[in-house]
Amino acid sequence: MCGIVGILGREPVAPALIDALKRLEYRGYDSAGVATLENGRLTRLRASGKLRNLQDKLKETPLSGHIGLGHTRWATHGRPNENNAHPHANDRVAVVHNGIIENFRELREELTAKGHVFATETDSEAVAHLVAEEMRQGSKPREAVAAALGRLKGAFALVFLFDGELDLLIGARRGSPLAVGWGDDGVYLGSDALALAPFAKEIAYLEEDDWVTLTREKTTFFDAAGRIVERARRPLQAGSLMVDKGNYRHYMAKEIHEQPEVVGRTLAHYLDLASGTARLPFDLAFDAKALSRVTISACGTAFYAGLVARYWLERFARLSVEIDIASEFRYREAPLPEGGLMIVVSQSGETADTLAALRYAKAHGQHVLSIVNVETSTIARESDTVAQTLAGPEIGVASTKAFTCQLAVFACLALALGRARGVLTEEREKELVAELIATPGLMAQVLKDEARIEPVARDVARASSVLYLGRGPSYPLALEGALKLKELSYIHAEGYAAGELKHGPIALIDFAMPVIVLAPHDASLEKTVSNLQEVAARGGHLILIGPESARVAASAELAGFIEMPEVAAGAFAALVYAVPAQLLAYHVAVFMGKDVDQPRNLAKSVTVE
Ligand code: M6R
Repeated sequence: MCGIVGILGREPVAPALIDALKRLEYRGYDSAGVATLENGRLTRLRASGKLRNLQDKLKETPLSGHIGLGHTRWATHGRPNENNAHPHANDRVAVVHNGIIENFRELREELTAKGHVFATETDSEAVAHLVAEEMRQGSKPREAVAAALGRLKGAFALVFLFDGELDLLIGARRGSPLAVGWGDDGVYLGSDALALAPFAKEIAYLEEDDWVTLTREKTTFFDAAGRIVERARRPLQAGSLMVDKGNYRHYMAKEIHEQPEVVGRTLAHYLDLASGTARLPFDLAFDAKALSRVTISACGTAFYAGLVARYWLERFARLSVEIDIASEFRYREAPLPEGGLMIVVSQSGETADTLAALRYAKAHGQHVLSIVNVETSTIARESDTVAQTLAGPEIGVASTKAFTCQLAVFACLALALGRARGVLTEEREKELVAELIATPGLMAQVLKDEARIEPVARDVARASSVLYLGRGPSYPLALEGALKLKELSYIHAEGYAAGELKHGPIALIDFAMPVIVLAPHDASLEKTVSNLQEVAARGGHLILIGPESARVAASAELAGFIEMPEVAAGAFAALVYAVPAQLLAYHVAVFMGKDVDQPRNLAKSVTVE
């Protein structure tokens, strides 16, 4: 995950930029760079590899500017080399970027046609040229940035430094965090509080779609519409930085909101975003064509990620999938195919049942691939291949960002296996990768409208039992939505395959029990809508999570409607629909005054049977 810092100081800023970048090293990076204004002119130094390479360059060519940017890059588009390192710059502006610019190809074509020369393979460079183009047409830096932001698609944090502007930095966020810090020696921008800790006494976080202008005397926050807004400043608590809640009341809320960033980061690790193909960072140590079956085992939320993945592995890799919860699988004495593939999934990597399932599979000659968040965990250590989810530490007991990152890894794996098995055409793979790349931006869009979930949550908080319905990959998501609600609010909830309703649970329908229908615009929509109508016909208490077209098709009386983007990642809609399911459970629990981060009776890591 890239790290960003910007400093408007009173002394040369290069040493402080390096200091801040060192504090961001934990995020992982493959190159780094800084830019300052030397006699008012943009000057940058970049180096591949570790920060000491950049420091060596700074020794040879010291920078003395009192304003500057720094960046540690974690390659997404383009190779990890010096040329692709940030800041990206032209004669007008330098920019550092964290995230993914989805529409960079269109922008690159458009700007190239206007005479801009691209020097890198990155998506980020398009932002620098877009702003420069606005300035060439007469806009001042502020207007140029505002206009450019309106043209960008995706999830990102950006900081800009302008040629000749000795007292101006501009930052922006959509989907990726960005904070402003105020200290005795200057004002600062950083991708997290940790970067700013040694310098800043106070901090404020940009909200979704905010942008901010910084001068030494004045900080002005703007919302997406360009209106000036206030953002709360609070003291920077040095002690609790690594697990800081940021602006959020609970870790869970913070982790839900981190999803555009960490899912983007995870996708960038498993996809080649420039070519639009899947690219696993490890060799498949088995013959994918010869695989007859994949076995998946996990617990809780991780198990539901596996259930979603079953649809993708069957559909895109044409693999049959056997899946079971680990506490059952470990004792079933299941026969496993010779040289088969076993996938275990775990956030903590320490879950006792999942570990036992892994050991059973190993003892029965399986190649074990684990999808884990904690790289140093026992499950990771005992696996043949580790596919890490790059979710970062998950503190809330209820799993959120680990789940969507597990889905992201599974989606990429399904595409890579499909290609390795010769069952997925290059064209189809590219279409599917484009759908995946859109997910962080769509998640950010859903998160932005969080307030509309609150009235629905108030309604659900009155219930004593709730039913979640979905079809296809939305069925496991219904199970996950119900699990989140149970864990956090202690309201009884069940997830059901929408088509199974008529085989029993329909008897439960009355107006007291909310029925939450997950209905993305996918191949099952029509059928899901029919099931919704079955509930409506029996006077059910319906809450729809879906696009406007689903609401229109349903033409039923709804007690609640959480509108979703019409096109939401096609086959991978589960990644986007996880967000409202999580938010709903979160807000219900908050209304009920429950302990959101540490629900009763639950542990984050379950190391006993
Ligand atoms: O660390 P793991 O992913 O192996 O944990 C598995 C389950 O214990 C976990 O997902 C649990 O269900 C969470 N409380 C879900 O929010």
